Amino acid sequence: MTDKYAVIGNPIAHSQSPRIHAMFARQTGQDMSYAAMLAPLDGFETTVRAFIAAGGCGVNVTVPFKEEACRLGTRLTDRARIAGASNTLLFDAEGIAGDNTDGVGLLRDIRQNLGRKISGMRVLLLGAGGAARGVILPLLLEHSAQLVIANRSAQKAQVLTSQIIDALADLPTEINSGIPLPAPTSCGLNQLAEDCFDIVINATSAGLGDNPIDIPGSVFAPGCLAYEMMYGRYTPFMAQAQNAQAQVSDGLGMLVEQAAEAFFLWRGVQPDTLPVLKALRGI
Ligand code: ATR
Repeated sequence: MTDKYAVIGNPIAHSQSPRIHAMFARQTGQDMSYAAMLAPLDGFETTVRAFIAAGGCGVNVTVPFKEEACRLGTRLTDRARIAGASNTLLFDAEGIAGDNTDGVGLLRDIRQNLGRKISGMRVLLLGAGGAARGVILPLLLEHSAQLVIANRSAQKAQVLTSQIIDALADLPTEINSGIPLPAPTSCGLNQLAEDCFDIVINATSAGLGDNPIDIPGSVFAPGCLAYEMMYGRYTPFMAQAQNAQAQVSDGLGMLVEQAAEAFFLWRGVQPDTLPVLKALRGI
């Protein structure tokens, strides 16, 4: 029998995930279906339970349900627990396993597709909402020289950073072979005038609008990678970074890589992401 998967969100019509997973399944010969499901804003859990009752094996979860998905998980990976958000659920005899593959998706895109290393680099993460939270632990595990979390509201960045530092203290030491992780620091966007970074990641939702982010061009060090976590639009952040001579990337590769990690979790097979990314970019 064909195994059933889906992505659940609201809105969901724009989702590229069914196309991505269909390509993965074809490439790896997996007998599975993958649908896009719209859940009512107050009906995420009901939608998940109905899908499980209909024989569903797992789901991806997108905006605005990732935090709720995390609460539904009867067991969570560290990266989901620390993110407080889950984008991948697996249903089995023991219940609902919750994972978060966004961070690993970002790292793989930066390292493998863009050919940039993170260890030893000065990294600036813009934003302190759900998108930022999802990628902090995987970024720290890469041992950047510095991770600064900067947000329009400095206080929100500070609260998030304290929460992360507290959560890190509870991590099993084997997650990092006993080597202490660098502690992130926080500031407001208006406190970045003196600093420059090798990698600047935009995890704010500013790209939905038309105004630039209030950061100086000097944050982009020579040879900097500027990574926009959104895709499908040339955002003001991408224009700012390009003006500052940075290497600019959108988040399409992250989307494909987080999907590949979810696919691996469900099917135990690692798909080849490059042809899928090329197909989505139409190249
Ligand atoms: P998401 O889940 O996409 O992260 P969110 O939790 O609502 O969404 O967080 C949105 C983030 O984008 C916040 O960090 C927000 O900054 P504030 O906390 O100061 O509101 C940031 N953001 C949104 N619009 C922005 C803008 N125009 N300039 C800078 N930051 C912006």
